[in-house]
Amino acid sequence: MNRGWRALVIGCGWISRQVHLPYLAGLRATGGLRSLYVADTAPERAARAARDFDAEMYTGPLEGAGADLVLVATPPADHATLTLRALAAGARVIVEKPLALTVEDAASVLAAAHRHGGGVYPLYTMRHRPEAALIRQVLAQRMGPAYEIRASWLRHDGVPATQGGTEPGVLWDLGSHLVDLALWLPDWCGATGTARAEHQHSAAAAIGDPRAGWQRQEPADQVVSAPKWHGVRAEATLDPGRRLHVEASWAAPGIRRDRSRIDIVGEQATLTWRTVLGWSPDRRTVCGPTLWITDADGRKQVLLHDQPRDPHVEYTAQLDAAFAALTSGDAAGSLETAYASTALLHAMRTSLDTAAPAPFDTRN
Ligand SMILES: NC(=O)c1ccc[n+]([C@@H]2O[C@H](COP(=O)([O-])OP(=O)(O)OC[C@H]3O[C@@H](n4cnc5c(N)ncnc54)[C@H](O)[C@@H]3O)[C@@H](O)[C@H]2O)c1
Repeated sequence: MNRGWRALVIGCGWISRQVHLPYLAGLRATGGLRSLYVADTAPERAARAARDFDAEMYTGPLEGAGADLVLVATPPADHATLTLRALAAGARVIVEKPLALTVEDAASVLAAAHRHGGGVYPLYTMRHRPEAALIRQVLAQRMGPAYEIRASWLRHDGVPATQGGTEPGVLWDLGSHLVDLALWLPDWCGATGTARAEHQHSAAAAIGDPRAGWQRQEPADQVVSAPKWHGVRAEATLDPGRRLHVEASWAAPGIRRDRSRIDIVGEQATLTWRTVLGWSPDRRTVCGPTLWITDADGRKQVLLHDQPRDPHVEYTAQLDAAFAALTSGDAAGSLETAYASTALLHAMRTSLDTAAPAPFDTRN
């Protein structure tokens, strides 16, 4: 661990308070960091974070902070700009998902990471679920080439109550995790193709208070505009002949419990992961099995019965992995997959806006 690092957290909202600040404060307390600074465009949020996590408030430009490590946890629109500025200032960067909101911005980050050599580790948390490592192993050994993935994340009342979650829309909020998993699990990076996407249901479909229960206690200074759409469906054709279907909703009509499911179809078998992703309390009561494989004759073998109940498992694992990668200078693979998923999501987003198919190229 890097006892000498001076860390700066930019953005002291929900995810920082839930995950990043407790983790970094713990590291600093055990000598794993030299110092911890916090910054936020809302000074009262930075002040509260400084007080609650025994950090120092930083109010100047990030270039003047002398930070060895910058953790970006603002809403997505600023992720790329802040990451580029931190790299140029000589820092390593941990950045919340999505890496960027356009393929051009993601490409700039990739190029700057190569140029400055500081390293950028994007937080696509679901890669750090314990099931994901087993899935990658099974895909490599028992499935044959994968040619179709169906990925869905449906919440029944899980509209974010934070600017960072709401502002980019459900495609970037939940969909970015699904698309990233779909490229990372079977290693579908480097694909070109065409994507299309459509909105599924508007805010009018929500019943009662659709805000995520685990965020309803957000402070009154948080200004969140009501999203117009709650659901999205997207699909992509990846050359040669592979297909990806994605469905994501913050408030899906007609379901009573949050659920996520990923089916990966290979030439020899189909792998099914049925789970609850993220912070939903429904993951505490979901019943197994969670992961199974079905061979070409329809024979099913359960690979995992239970899933981790506590989301801190993967949220802590991602930070452990980020520190390990940035310390050893080995963050490039993680960033390249994030670039690829941003390229594909950008095309889906373009299709949402234009109602026409949009091309993508995930090669870098
Ligand atoms: N990995 C995950 O599963 C996961 C879960 C939740 C949130 N997130 C991501 O974390 C990010 C933040 O989400 P959140 O829910 O914490 O949002 P939030 O709105 O609660 O917090 C964002 C904070 O950033 C501050 N801010 C905005 N622009 C800034 C700027 N330019 N400089 C400094 N501070 C700025 C805001 O004042 C706010 O305090 C989002 O990108 C979101 O997608 C990821």
